[in-house]
Amino acid sequence: MDQGVATTAARPSPLTVEAERALEAVGDPILIVARSGSVAYANAPARQLLTQEDSARLHIAGKASTAFLTRARATRTPVPGVIALKRGTGARRYRCHGCRLNRESIDPLVLLRLLPARDTRFNLLASEAVRLRRELAERERYQQRLQTLLCERDLLLANLRSTAQARARAERDRDAVLARLYRAHQAERECLARELHDEAGQQLAWLKLRLDRLRRAPSPTEVEAMLKQVDAISASLRQVVRELRPGTLTELGLTLALGGLVREWSDQSGIAIEFQLSGTRTPLTPEIEVTIFRLVQEALTNVVKHAQGTRHVSVTLQYAEAGVTLAVEDDGPGLAAEAMTEEHRAESGFGLTGMRERLTLLGGTLVIESSPGGGTTILARLPMTPITGG
Ligand SMILES: Nc1ncnc2c1ncn2[C@@H]1O[C@H](COP(=O)(O)OP(=O)(O)OP(=O)(O)O)[C@@H](O)[C@H]1O
Ligand SMILES: [Mg+2]
Repeated sequence: MDQGVATTAARPSPLTVEAERALEAVGDPILIVARSGSVAYANAPARQLLTQEDSARLHIAGKASTAFLTRARATRTPVPGVIALKRGTGARRYRCHGCRLNRESIDPLVLLRLLPARDTRFNLLASEAVRLRRELAERERYQQRLQTLLCERDLLLANLRSTAQARARAERDRDAVLARLYRAHQAERECLARELHDEAGQQLAWLKLRLDRLRRAPSPTEVEAMLKQVDAISASLRQVVRELRPGTLTELGLTLALGGLVREWSDQSGIAIEFQLSGTRTPLTPEIEVTIFRLVQEALTNVVKHAQGTRHVSVTLQYAEAGVTLAVEDDGPGLAAEAMTEEHRAESGFGLTGMRERLTLLGGTLVIESSPGGGTTILARLPMTPITGG
């Protein structure tokens, strides 16, 4: 048995058997040190530690142990301290966590629990705790950021959904407009076909019969009649061509074409008309020009058809940087109240609807101002579309 390491076999233990058993079961090295500095008891881990440190003897070395022992004598409170145990040529330091045992009849003893002063376990735990705290704070920040991002994503999704809905609505509207325009074009073609068949076609068939008769029995009166018929055919063809494409527009340009249109309309209807231009004239795209021309045509036709008693009409075309505004104003009876309702619009003719659709396709708008007895104003606004070359 090592002389320096106290055991119950070497000298009478300062502890009871139960206390010793309890200390033997503790995993950390535990020493009971007497006031003299000698070890009175060492549990199994302490014995192992001490014999490993120095198989011959335990040294409680240097200042640390002296200070510790001094304090152990001086106090009854728990005594932390440091002892150095010789190991080879050096010494290893241990923290002592302990307290003074005061038993009657024996010297005061100090119970020490030894823990390596540089306990990597503790250091690890401490740095681990710091790291964990940092990670938790990081995670907290991340969670908050995530929450914000999720909210932003929800907002974006809601925006996207409403944009998609609006877009779908706009596409449905555009499809409906295109479908109506297509139907209108079809109807126009059928009308033209009928016109050609019933007018020019009939007359040509009749003319052929006459020519045939003329071959057999020449007659100057018949030739005269036939010449008149040829004039009628060409007039009817001109009418058809005018329906198809406002040729004057291409030949004369918008201003002159409109001037001609209003003059002709006034001559035929007997209603006074005034045509005004304002603003700096800017070149317009062919689509805008055709739309304006057709709008004036339809508005004037409507005056003749629906605005009995009209004495004066004014057509104004106003150029501005943002676009052009067309106003066709009559002093007739105004639109019947029911003509302003949506239901009536759906049931009535195609004229006003066609105007609105033509304008919609070009990003424009149509406003109809009317009051009973106060006349009607058709107001069309069209944005200026740059003319692309080529
Ligand atoms: N200048 C106007 N004065 C009074 N009422 C008008 C005038 N223009 C249009 N209206 C009214 O608005 C209705 C719709 O006109 P719209 O041009 O759409 O159809 P329409 O002229 O009856 O038929 P369509 O143009 O297809 O030949 C007309 O039926 C008429 O009651
Ligand atoms: Mg009409």
